[in-house]
Amino acid sequence: MPYFPLVKSLLIVYHSRTGGTLQMARAAATGARRESAIRVRMETAAAAGPRELLECDGYLFACPENLAAMSGVMKDFFDRSYYPVLDRIQGRAYATLICAGSDGTNAARQIERIATGWRLRDIAPPLIVCTHAQSPEEILRPKQIGQEDLGRCEELGATLAAGLALGIF
Ligand SMILES: Cc1cc2nc3c(=O)[nH]c(=O)nc-3n(C[C@H](O)[C@H](O)[C@H](O)COP(=O)(O)O)c2cc1C
Repeated sequence: MPYFPLVKSLLIVYHSRTGGTLQMARAAATGARRESAIRVRMETAAAAGPRELLECDGYLFACPENLAAMSGVMKDFFDRSYYPVLDRIQGRAYATLICAGSDGTNAARQIERIATGWRLRDIAPPLIVCTHAQSPEEILRPKQIGQEDLGRCEELGATLAAGLALGIF
């Protein structure tokens, strides 16, 4: 008899400096946990690496945009992981959460490019939340993401988990 594991895993890799991305990632995890057949694993980008990627069936990548790029800690996660998992995770589902001051598109594009190299499957367009922080003081201040945006993150997590559980992704 072939062995089909019942529980699939969703890996949420995140980096957050002033708390916005963390709230988004937690909301996505809450949505994903509605799906009892899915194990949700949240890891910081600093702690996550090839092993976590190989052990999980789908991914949510969450980080801020800094200086028109994904944050450096997130980039380091991809730099450490890219070649060790290349050709070993193709076809797996992923989605992206970006917390940005006013843009976020470059960070999203960079992650999309890496995911294309890995041949991952995007299940939704990148979800970008702008905090509208402009001045240095606002940018460095702890962030509070609004309920509506957190609801969108929760829905994305739920969609990803439901697709994994049903075997759609
Ligand atoms: C050094 C630095 C550079 C930033 N560059 C950008 C940027 O290029 N585009 C943008 O939209 N926001 C930029 N921001 C704003 C952050 O993306 C925003 O503050 C976001 O809420 C940070 O997410 P976090 O709360 O999870 O740390 C920058 C912030 C910092 C600290």
